[in-house]
Amino acid sequence: MKIDTTITEPLIQTENLILQYGQKTALKNVTLSIEAGKIMALVGPSGCGKTSFLSCLNRMTDLIPNCRVKGRIRVGTLEVLDTKINTIALRRRVGMIFQKPNPFPFSIWKNLELPLIEHGIHNRKQINTIVETTLSDVGLWDEVKDRLHTSALALSGGQQQRLCIARALSLQPQILLLDEPCSALDPISSGVVEDLIVSLRKRYTLLIVTHNLAQAKRIADKAALFWVQDNVGQLIESGTVEQIFQHPQHPLTKAYITGARG
Ligand SMILES: Nc1ncnc2c1ncn2[C@@H]1O[C@H](COP(=O)(O)OP(=O)(O)OP(=O)(O)O)[C@@H](O)[C@H]1O
Ligand SMILES: [Mg+2]
Repeated sequence: MKIDTTITEPLIQTENLILQYGQKTALKNVTLSIEAGKIMALVGPSGCGKTSFLSCLNRMTDLIPNCRVKGRIRVGTLEVLDTKINTIALRRRVGMIFQKPNPFPFSIWKNLELPLIEHGIHNRKQINTIVETTLSDVGLWDEVKDRLHTSALALSGGQQQRLCIARALSLQPQILLLDEPCSALDPISSGVVEDLIVSLRKRYTLLIVTHNLAQAKRIADKAALFWVQDNVGQLIESGTVEQIFQHPQHPLTKAYITGARG
């Protein structure tokens, strides 16, 4: 029997995901799968639930009072919504990067060392190696190696964002959730961070929220469009970047990618 090697198991799968903030349903019936090693872009107008969707995947939603998530989410074989799972281990496996770079107000070194210590890594040699490797992976090592013990807040916005990505990578995640990671940056820094994200493809599985459709087309393998319908955020269409941008099926997708709506 010939085995089709082009079909890969999804790493992330949501089924009929529902998210409520108190009485308000923000997301309804989101069924979406994401394959390992790919970049998926989440697009759609403001308020359609993109950030909420990301937050479900590593249970950051637990931290929001009155927020309830129902349905099913699997990361590999892990049932994410199972109340008994270790959420600290989940968040190590599924890292998150926000729109505004959020380094700790300490030195560059401490930004990387603290999470490692928090996760039980105390060996000095091991810490040194991880710090150098992850800073090199994000293209920062040469820029900061002579000022590792100065404040991370003195870095430029783009450097801070790359430091935050290094901090997430230092914990050896499998998945990175990036919520508009370039939109607070100047065009040059944005380009540098975008190139970095592309370089992480295959080694990691990446979900990126972006309002920049040109960026989604440039960097993503897959795309998913969310929209508010009947006052609730819903997944309208997902597929390869080519399907979504060249051959959209849904009228809202057509309207969104041509700039007529959204
Ligand atoms: N903590 C919260 N409490 C109550 N409602 C919330 C909360 N966070 C988000 N919402 C609501 O849920 C809906 C989806 O918000 P979300 O932030 O996920 O949208 P988004 O697609 O990320 O928007 P944007 O593109 O502006 O970032 C919105 O109606 C928003 O007002
Ligand atoms: Mg958002």
